Amino acid sequence: MSNRTLVRGGLVITAADEVHADVLTEDGRIVALASNGSDIAAGWTADRVIDATGKYVIPGGVDGHTHMEMPFGGTFAADTFETGTRAAAWGGTTTIVDFAIQSPGQALREGLDAWYAKADGNCAIDYGFHMILADVNEHSLQEMDLLVQEGITSFKLFMAYPGVFYSDDGKILRAMQRASHNGGLIMMHAENGIAIDVLVEQALAAGRTDPRYHGEVRKVLLEAEATHRAIQLARVADAPLYVVHVSAEEAVAELAAARDKGLPVFGETCPQYLFLSTDNLAEPDFEGAKYVCSTPLRPREHQAALWRGLRTNDLQVVSTDHCPFCFTGQKEMGRGDFSKIPNGLPGVEHRMDLLHQAVVDGHISRRRWIEIACATPARMFGLYPKKGTIAPGADADIVIYDPKAEQTLSAQTHHMDVDYSVYEGKRITGQVETVLSRGETVIDGRKYTGRPGHGIYTPRATCQYLT
Ligand code: URP
Ligand code: ZN
Ligand code: ZN
Ligand code: ZN
Repeated sequence: MSNRTLVRGGLVITAADEVHADVLTEDGRIVALASNGSDIAAGWTADRVIDATGKYVIPGGVDGHTHMEMPFGGTFAADTFETGTRAAAWGGTTTIVDFAIQSPGQALREGLDAWYAKADGNCAIDYGFHMILADVNEHSLQEMDLLVQEGITSFKLFMAYPGVFYSDDGKILRAMQRASHNGGLIMMHAENGIAIDVLVEQALAAGRTDPRYHGEVRKVLLEAEATHRAIQLARVADAPLYVVHVSAEEAVAELAAARDKGLPVFGETCPQYLFLSTDNLAEPDFEGAKYVCSTPLRPREHQAALWRGLRTNDLQVVSTDHCPFCFTGQKEMGRGDFSKIPNGLPGVEHRMDLLHQAVVDGHISRRRWIEIACATPARMFGLYPKKGTIAPGADADIVIYDPKAEQTLSAQTHHMDVDYSVYEGKRITGQVETVLSRGETVIDGRKYTGRPGHGIYTPRATCQYLT
């Protein structure tokens, strides 16, 4: 007995097209599209018909950068795989790629197995893993090859956080050389952490302890310098490079210059850099701590360069870097010392909406919305065309999106397990109405119908962006 769902009457938007089409799914996959009202579509029967008249029918979002339950800064990110993936579903995201962590002294295997165990049976939507390389050595380099074969095809390295995740240039070069051979994609946290730590120490010694100094010491120049250095190292290793959470105009310029040379260099930004700024970090009464993340929020002037980069394809992806810490008890650990504020913001629920608002505001087109939030992350991380598009053969990960609905973002109404919203009071035009994950309804007319364990581990192919 097959199980068929028909999504009728909507405007199907993918990275490539906008077509008024009905979408037929069977047993968790999309099997056919046909023009709204056509004889072919009229002849289809299904167990369930969803009326999408006046709505957008879009692929489920692919968030390529989350940190559920991440141990960091002496505490753990507040969302578990259960709460975080449920919140993602509410916001129209149907796949996340989270970061498994190798701790220094640990094998990649050990770190990865711990992440499989954390996620297993708990996720509402499908998930994959990147691997954080915190200890590049002969053994972990060999393990990279095995992980690529296992579907862990991307590896994050840190030029920041000395003593925690930091790798020096020699280690970075070795990992890039390995990736050049095994097809892995190196993802880089590009900030000069050695120099930043000097500035942190000097700021604290001078009594500059408030959250806003987090933004001041993590200088634009130190993001641009690290971005430049990462690009040159990737050229030496003949490896592609994906720079995560790009926040500064000068860093975008480094990516653009590399891409103008034809180099396989890619960049991701996040909604917080597009919508928030150092004004938030400067909010009084320690409220600024809510906005502490790295790379840090920048002066508002940088936003135009990020939007431009998204339009010109010098930036290809918007992910959330979802890494929530409660204000009470977690962000508060840094009262009197900004360097002790756990780094990271909640965001997994709001990416699709915020980028739809960017469509409404005229920053990007509808198709570009789907490209940067669904199709390109799926390609970049080896999930396409299973994920990221609406086409026969793709997983039936489908969002019915109401482009006319009005909503106000707030901690009172969001579903992330964190006690504040960085977008408190922000008005958004557009809202997710219904979400299918492999044909199963996880959000049904703004009601949650999903369950932990529906989401499955999804092994990934190597980066498809170049092919
Ligand atoms: O502040 C952030 N971004 N926290 C998460 C860890 C990282 O560097 O992505
Ligand atoms: Zn990072
Ligand atoms: Zn991150
Ligand atoms: Zn909490």
